Amino acid sequence: MATLQFPKGFLWGTATASYQVEGGAFEDGRGLSVWDMLCRKPGAIYNGHSGATACDQYHRYSEDIALMRELGARGHRFSLSWPRILPEGVGAVNAKGLDYYDRFIDGLLAAGVQPYVTLFHWDYPYELYCKGGWLNPDSPRWFADYAALVVERYSDRVTHWMTHNEPQCFVWLGHSVGVHAPGDKLGWAEVLRVGHNALLAHGRAVQAMRAAAKQPIQIGFAPVSSQAMPADPNNPADVDAARQATFAVRGQDFWNNTWFSDPIFLKRYPEDGVALYGDAMPAIGADDFEIIGQPIDFYGANIYQGVVVRAGANGPELVPFPDGYPHTAFPWPVTPEALYWGPRFLYERYKTPIYITENGLASMDWVGIDQRVHDRGRIDFTTRYLAELHRAIKDGVDVRGYFHWSLLDNFEWAEGYKQRFGLVHVDFATLKRTPKDSFVWYQGVVRANGF
Ligand code: FCB
Repeated sequence: MATLQFPKGFLWGTATASYQVEGGAFEDGRGLSVWDMLCRKPGAIYNGHSGATACDQYHRYSEDIALMRELGARGHRFSLSWPRILPEGVGAVNAKGLDYYDRFIDGLLAAGVQPYVTLFHWDYPYELYCKGGWLNPDSPRWFADYAALVVERYSDRVTHWMTHNEPQCFVWLGHSVGVHAPGDKLGWAEVLRVGHNALLAHGRAVQAMRAAAKQPIQIGFAPVSSQAMPADPNNPADVDAARQATFAVRGQDFWNNTWFSDPIFLKRYPEDGVALYGDAMPAIGADDFEIIGQPIDFYGANIYQGVVVRAGANGPELVPFPDGYPHTAFPWPVTPEALYWGPRFLYERYKTPIYITENGLASMDWVGIDQRVHDRGRIDFTTRYLAELHRAIKDGVDVRGYFHWSLLDNFEWAEGYKQRFGLVHVDFATLKRTPKDSFVWYQGVVRANGF
């Protein structure tokens, strides 16, 4: 394979989220989150696992920062636990919670790793859920107040911020399907209302963050991208079909890009969705899209996989994967081109610089008889995906960085500890960290700014 050089200053990093790695769930005044509660519900999580201890990063953060230093990563994306900072979601502040993130951020900076902070990666304060959660009309305010508090505290050191991680998941999987916290199965009108309040929360938080920031900050959000890829990339009709499919709203689910991104970047809901959802649509206030559509600085794309489509007589047609097509342990299909077409289509439509805020895979890793973890699959997968990302950049897409999901094996939501996404293996009985072969490989990528 030819040598691939990424642009100068391209930001290589790793990603994690509070509930998936921190543990320390009932310590030092942290309040409960909806994920603590879902984990208590019989049958909700694989094998009854929970994030109560997770990777115990709350106590072992120095070890994890040392790993990042060794990796040479220039950035690390992580989230703050809202209930660790505000045990009831609003009101009284937990000083020990704020102190923890001071130590974490200072540690990263001392290791030469730039913090990229997500405000909300799904561990919603349980006390706010009991007040109606995202259905409560005050919920956007609650989020904005939390955002102002943390930006006031950390923006002397943190310049890059994200509001929500994957609203598609916490709104839809959490409130419609019920497999993620809070585990509700609301009617579609209520789910749309949850989504609308989450969008208003994003917009109000952006306003509050700019007002509270101690220096200019960059703000983005990190939706999950649902990509379609053309069956024949040299056939313009297939490329068009893939573009259409990438931006279509299809049913009562949120596996699309437009429902959350159009309001933020284009100040409107996508027309096909509005027509489809009809009288389930929430009431929209006169200023709502002004609030939601506050200018932001980057688009955080979480991209893992895509589907293949071709142009059919009645619009885009799904092309099924052939039998035996490669898939990861989850099992998600291995589709490197998603990291070409995803950024390309998203940049065309939203014209905003992109960070790949998540990409990676679950694989069948264990510590071998030689005490090492030989995760060839992760190296091969990431090589293929990065080659496609490189091609997108070469074709003019403004991609600023790549955060590998994840630094560590961690608590994979409803899948518990079954799925291992880390560059570093974690033994969940002893909490011992073992860098995998992919860790050493990624170290080389970072050093060479390519491979
Ligand atoms: C994404 C989530 C992240 C992780 C990966 C595998 O949907 O944002 O927390 O679980 O998937």
